[in-house]
Amino acid sequence: MLYRTLQSFSKYVNKMVPEVVFVLGAPGAGKGTQCTYISKEYGFVHLSAGDLLREERQRPGSEYGEMIEEKIRNGQIVPVEVTCSLLHKAMQKSGKSRFLIDGFPRNKDNLEGWERTMSDKTKLLFVLFFECSQSMCTERCLGRGAAGSGRSDDNLDSLKKRFNTYLNDTMPIIQHYEAQGLVRKIDAEKCPDEVFEKVKEAFDEIGLKTIVC
Ligand code: C5P
Ligand code: MG
Repeated sequence: MLYRTLQSFSKYVNKMVPEVVFVLGAPGAGKGTQCTYISKEYGFVHLSAGDLLREERQRPGSEYGEMIEEKIRNGQIVPVEVTCSLLHKAMQKSGKSRFLIDGFPRNKDNLEGWERTMSDKTKLLFVLFFECSQSMCTERCLGRGAAGSGRSDDNLDSLKKRFNTYLNDTMPIIQHYEAQGLVRKIDAEKCPDEVFEKVKEAFDEIGLKTIVC
């Protein structure tokens, strides 16, 4: 009897552990677009590390504003203490339990920081990896810049630096998760709807149901 009660209690507690999907890929691979689709279809909260950093940069009185702007413009990665704390706060504020964490972990510092402070408070379901050539990603980001994204890093100079960071710092993180069998690789060169069909397969594979409206 006591054993059964404990068992159902532990099932209940497990249910409460926030579930996380990391979303990685080169700048312009379509992470944000796909996250919007996923959150509508599967009810995940979309947290973009880049968006949270841009928000913090704009926050009046932020002690990190200038540092964040400099890192973003140079395609470098902000120290994990800042990013992880923004993610953690946003997760708590949402009151929800399923999160798409877009653009994180981006380097070893991000990964180690998450493992130190968050990995035992959350359950990583898998890592979505959007694969797209540098030429197509660059074209998309420049197009986004020309269409008025207002981003200080959608220009050729910043894009070259962002790509270097992606190849040197982010790829090893993707390989780290690949070795654990956690990566779902998606061809992101196609149009958004076609890409989403593949994304759905990854979510359906682990038994996540779409929201019925
Ligand atoms: O993901 P997104 O392209 O919006 O990121 C823009 C920039 O934000 C990155 O190039 C980087 O400078 C910063 N960033 C970061 N750490 C992350 C995610 C983004 O420093 N985990
Ligand atoms: Mg984005």
